[in-house]
Amino acid sequence: MKNRRSISSLLAVAATYCFLFSLIPWVAARGVERTRALLVHEGIPRDDAGAAAAFEAIIPVLHHPRCMNCHSKGDFPRQGDDSHRHTMQIRRGPDGKGVNAVRCSTCHQDHNLAGLHMPPGAPDWHLPSPAMPMIWEGLTDHQLCELFKDPHGNGHRTPAQIVEHMHTPLVLWGWTPGDGRTPVPTSQHYFLAKIQEWAEKGAACPVDVDAPTSETFGFPVIPITSYKPTFGPE
Ligand code: HEC
Ligand code: HEC
Repeated sequence: MKNRRSISSLLAVAATYCFLFSLIPWVAARGVERTRALLVHEGIPRDDAGAAAAFEAIIPVLHHPRCMNCHSKGDFPRQGDDSHRHTMQIRRGPDGKGVNAVRCSTCHQDHNLAGLHMPPGAPDWHLPSPAMPMIWEGLTDHQLCELFKDPHGNGHRTPAQIVEHMHTPLVLWGWTPGDGRTPVPTSQHYFLAKIQEWAEKGAACPVDVDAPTSETFGFPVIPITSYKPTFGPE
């Protein structure tokens, strides 16, 4: 009797294992998909020139009004392809979400409202807070890249998390900005591939073209790239 019971429980255990094993390929496939989409493969050799070139490739997106209207100087958002100041005295406010009764969410929903001059929308529509305003306006390509790597200026993100942030609906909104607004022209696929390439290759920053060169001074100048290793110890 005792024997029979232990055989049947053995069979039950075996069946459970079979089932779990059959799940492995499915789980693995999903995991790989997610990793490919969001995370950064480690172990890829660092390639500073490749990373810097990948960052340069997305500069036109970063300078586009669909991004700059929330990443410009001032305590207010901007509107339109000419990035004029947001009408109706809209202000950043203490948390980036407006002041008192005039909160962004009063008008902006989590989706675009149909029709010309209707409020656009995406989940979490607001400005960065004044404590960490993430102002890109006026920065050189090198400085912008350094800002993306600076946890004290970028919302405490690693380069892998910057890649992840680029996949959020608020950023992707730039490609479907609603009636009457020009979408970001660079393909979204290309943009996401390049920012990932930047992180994977070690997140080095481009050297500004107008940085001092040997020609400026007539003697050799070592370019200051202030490169910090990204995945290594600080
Ligand atoms: C409606 C306003 C808004 C728009 C439009 C917008 N952003 Fe942002 N962005 C934010 C806010 C708010 C944060 C801070 C979010 C946080 O830290 O949680 C942010 C943070 C970021 C960061 C974090 C790093 C840093 O230093 O700035 C990146 C990268 C970024 N946005 C990329 C983009 C890109 C690319 C576009 C255009 C395709 C874009 N954003 C358009 C509001 C906006
Ligand atoms: C009283 C309503 C209202 C409030 C409050 C409001 N907005 Fe707007 N916003 C609008 C409308 C309407 C538009 C579209 C204007 C147009 O297309 O002519 C707009 C457009 C924008 C755009 C322009 C998008 C683009 O690229 O052209 C941004 C950015 C923006 N709002 C950010 C904000 C932020 C951030 C807040 C809160 C700090 C905010 N708005 C509060 C009504 C509002």
